[in-house]
Amino acid sequence: MTAATLRHLLGTRDLSCERAESIFETADAFLEVTRRPIKKVPTLRGKTVINLFFEASTRTRTSFELAGKRLGADVVNMSLSSSSTSKGETLRDTVATLDAMHPDVIVVRHNASGAAHYLAERTRAAVVNAGDGMHEHPTQALLDAFSIRGKRGSLKGLKIAICGDIAHSRVARSNALLFPTLGAEVRLAGPRTLLPRFVDALGCKSYDRLEPAIEGADVVMMLRIQQERLGGASFSTLREYSRVFGLTVDRLNLAAPDALVMHPGPMNRGVEIADDVADCDRSLVLDQVEAGVAIRMAVLYMTAAEAGADLHAT
Ligand code: CP
Repeated sequence: MTAATLRHLLGTRDLSCERAESIFETADAFLEVTRRPIKKVPTLRGKTVINLFFEASTRTRTSFELAGKRLGADVVNMSLSSSSTSKGETLRDTVATLDAMHPDVIVVRHNASGAAHYLAERTRAAVVNAGDGMHEHPTQALLDAFSIRGKRGSLKGLKIAICGDIAHSRVARSNALLFPTLGAEVRLAGPRTLLPRFVDALGCKSYDRLEPAIEGADVVMMLRIQQERLGGASFSTLREYSRVFGLTVDRLNLAAPDALVMHPGPMNRGVEIADDVADCDRSLVLDQVEAGVAIRMAVLYMTAAEAGADLHAT
């Protein structure tokens, strides 16, 4: 396997700086393709991509579908409700069934942490993790880093504050693993009840208040409360959470004067982020969405290549 190919993309823990840079350079070329009037190249013609989304998604699912189609691949989309999982079929039988159809890449989102690894052990296809439970969301981390790189040139020496529901966030974990590899300092902030033990293992600085985490930061990334994964009471009320942990203009003023504002989406406006911050000219929210298509094109290209594709030149 070379730096220009990927067998699977399951997480960011084992992604080297060199490999990440190779993904970014490939995405640079595909970003240019996505901005053309005709947004299609024959790079993955004859290849099959299955998008298996067992959890709700707007950004990730749409951008993987667009990415595959813009590369000329045959793209099949499956959701929980439209698959035989809704009739009781197991994930093991689902992956065996799909594998028998010889897909080149399976993109999977699932509510179980480890689901992408489970698939990777049971299919000949390349597997791309599009978010597994509270574990990882590697293409989100790559698109976040790519968006910052687009504005700042590199992540080297940047202070990046990731704030909110860290405990349940696969985005926080994937970013906290990737950003230091790229030379950034990561600060994680949230209520003590939403700061998990993995914070220490990651070697990131952690804060149970927003202000010291944001102070002097070059990038402030806000996360939503993952209501669907909260086991019990982690804070009193959303109103109280917002009062203490919401990003307002006053709080953003504690960061570096040109600090970038990020959010992976979906945003809960008025809870973790105020409207005027979400829509300010330093907000990268929509840049992140645009970057998502280019990064996912790059990841499909590099995984399909490792799956043995005879690729056509772009
Ligand atoms: N950021 C993200 O994963 O958004 P979706 O859930 O809409 O895909």
